[in-house]
Amino acid sequence: MTSSSILDAVGNTPVIELKRISAGLGVSGVSVFAKAEYFNPSGSVKDRAARAMLLHGIGTGQLNKDKTILDSTSGNTGIAYAMFGAALGYKVELFMPSNASAERKKLIKAYGAKVVETDPLEGSDGAYMAVMERVKGDPDKFFFPNQYDNFENVRAHYETTGVELYKQCKPTHFVAGTGTSGTFMGTSKRLKEYDSSVHIALMQPDSPFHGLEGMKHLGATIRPKIFDESIADGRVEVGTEDAYKTARRLAAEEGIFVGVSSGANVFAALELAKTLPEGSRVATILCDNGYRYMTEPLWRDV
Ligand SMILES: Cc1ncc(COP(=O)(O)O)c(C=O)c1O
Repeated sequence: MTSSSILDAVGNTPVIELKRISAGLGVSGVSVFAKAEYFNPSGSVKDRAARAMLLHGIGTGQLNKDKTILDSTSGNTGIAYAMFGAALGYKVELFMPSNASAERKKLIKAYGAKVVETDPLEGSDGAYMAVMERVKGDPDKFFFPNQYDNFENVRAHYETTGVELYKQCKPTHFVAGTGTSGTFMGTSKRLKEYDSSVHIALMQPDSPFHGLEGMKHLGATIRPKIFDESIADGRVEVGTEDAYKTARRLAAEEGIFVGVSSGANVFAALELAKTLPEGSRVATILCDNGYRYMTEPLWRDV
């Protein structure tokens, strides 16, 4: 008999070809693929980064049982830290804007972690500044992965997401948005190493005042240290309504129930696909599960 932990359930997620939704694009011979990261155990792509950062902390001795895991999060990384903290026996404390969805806060609490709510008007930057203050006040008490500046976040996707995606669909184009940018940077770097002709497109919200929860508008917010725009060959901007509409189409036309950032990524992939020649293969990421947004505008009124 073999035994495994929840940590072993991360990754190896399926890639789904969006056949029905891309049929109406008006181009022939262009395929659109989406890596279904909501199959990860806590329901999002962030399981990969959280697992890598915690294991690195344990491996280097920076995280021990006397310390509390502490970070700022828009929700998904926090849920992943909380899940792994429960499985590994660590205390977890998370700073997040108070307007993060009720589902996210409840999930974190269900896993036994503590939520500290920060000013919603200050967004993810406000949560980040608040957590920095907390660490400064009591540095020996905490393990602070700092997901925005931690290269283990990028490495997680370089070692896993990018490797899997290339094997699964050999993309000619990859498009994704950025929270910390770990998924975008690590996956893109690996794809470029396999094939330097893979075109990398950065998805960005079309306004600093967007509703793409979990996504950062990089021109208007604190830039993560792990982000390096030079890897991008192009950029696609997406509006909040288009992201919502696409997430709803994914559910109704493909049987894929996901959140707003997944809708934004797929909208960007479809926009890019429309411009491409026959034989092109566009890949993107389905970042998280739609259940996380049941009380939010995306699914509240269904
Ligand atoms: C809903 C959602 N989508 C996408 C992402 C992007 O992930 P990354 O931090 O790897 O850029 C995040 C990150 O926090 C997120 O919360």
